[in-house]
Amino acid sequence: MNRDDELRTVVSTLRSRRGPWGAVLTGDAGVGKTTLARAAVGAFAGERRWAAGTESARAVPLGAFAHLVGVSSPMDAASVLRAAREHLVADSADIVIGVDDAHLLDRLSATFVHQLAVNRIAPLVVTVRTGEPVPDAITALWKDNLLTRVELPPFTRAEAVSLVETVLGGPLEESSANRIFVMSEGNPLFLRHVVEGALEAGTLREVAGVWQLRGETVISPHLSTLIESRIDHLDPELRHVLELLAFQEPLSLEVLSKLSAPETVEAAENAGLVRVRRRDDSGLTVKLAHPLYGEVVRAGTGILAARRLRAGCAVRWRVRSRIIRLHT
Ligand SMILES: Nc1ncnc2c1ncn2[C@@H]1O[C@H](COP(=O)(O)OP(=O)(O)O)[C@@H](O)[C@H]1O
Ligand SMILES: [Mg+2]
Repeated sequence: MNRDDELRTVVSTLRSRRGPWGAVLTGDAGVGKTTLARAAVGAFAGERRWAAGTESARAVPLGAFAHLVGVSSPMDAASVLRAAREHLVADSADIVIGVDDAHLLDRLSATFVHQLAVNRIAPLVVTVRTGEPVPDAITALWKDNLLTRVELPPFTRAEAVSLVETVLGGPLEESSANRIFVMSEGNPLFLRHVVEGALEAGTLREVAGVWQLRGETVISPHLSTLIESRIDHLDPELRHVLELLAFQEPLSLEVLSKLSAPETVEAAENAGLVRVRRRDDSGLTVKLAHPLYGEVVRAGTGILAARRLRAGCAVRWRVRSRIIRLHT
């Protein structure tokens, strides 16, 4: 596994006697948080428990732990938490608890996790997706130093290439490796789907012992669905920001804020959908947070809508350059 250092760090926090007891793994969707958390929990010698925050369980108080704790009769919150704790650790003193996607926990589940950490009931491995709103009780896990925060970056080019070459069982041609890395930006999930998509489409082929990517880049239907489902749920104004950028990126923050609205662009940045960067001449430019977002949005936008989106940007640019000319 490409994450040996991080795995060692997390496993060592599970054995600590003082200070943070366990870890919070943070990072983008698909960066490998669940994989690493499962490996760390799996390496634990004692008993293991696993819970996960989900959109559906979120509506139910303590929903993420429903399968682990036997609380059924109506009780006040404090009694529920006490009963849940006793039930969870009843038959074992040596137990590790994994909590996946803790940003999706309902309030009571989040409080429960926080109490487990504060009272040092058991070591925890918690994952949190970057860019999502997180319950305060979960943020407190690392803010208050109850757990060690481990930020998972995307793979470096070398790590990404070595992973793909291992999967393919042979070396990748240099320029193909570049294209695959640029497309995935080292995100393991995207990497996997870019490679699978290309293999299925026959654009990634072994020629004289070297793997080559030729022709159109494709992404697997699964990844496309995955990104679409994220984009589909967006409020139409946020989606419009993505559409504008998908056809004309980068855009200056100023122009994009006029085509959309400053608070919408800010919301898109907070949601991890776009990235704002400083240009050399001190202005700010906005790009999609990931090249694959552009592929998916473009694939899902009709020809006429695409023309309208491009034209919208062009008109703004013309007006703007005229204004600049008038002023100079
Ligand atoms: N260290 C790794 N080596 C190889 N593939 C990985 C690694 N970590 C994650 N992956 C792959 O990337 C994808 C996303 O991983 P996952 O752990 O589900 O990400 P996250 O929980 O951060 O969204 C999975 O398909 C997984 O197999
Ligand atoms: Mg995950």
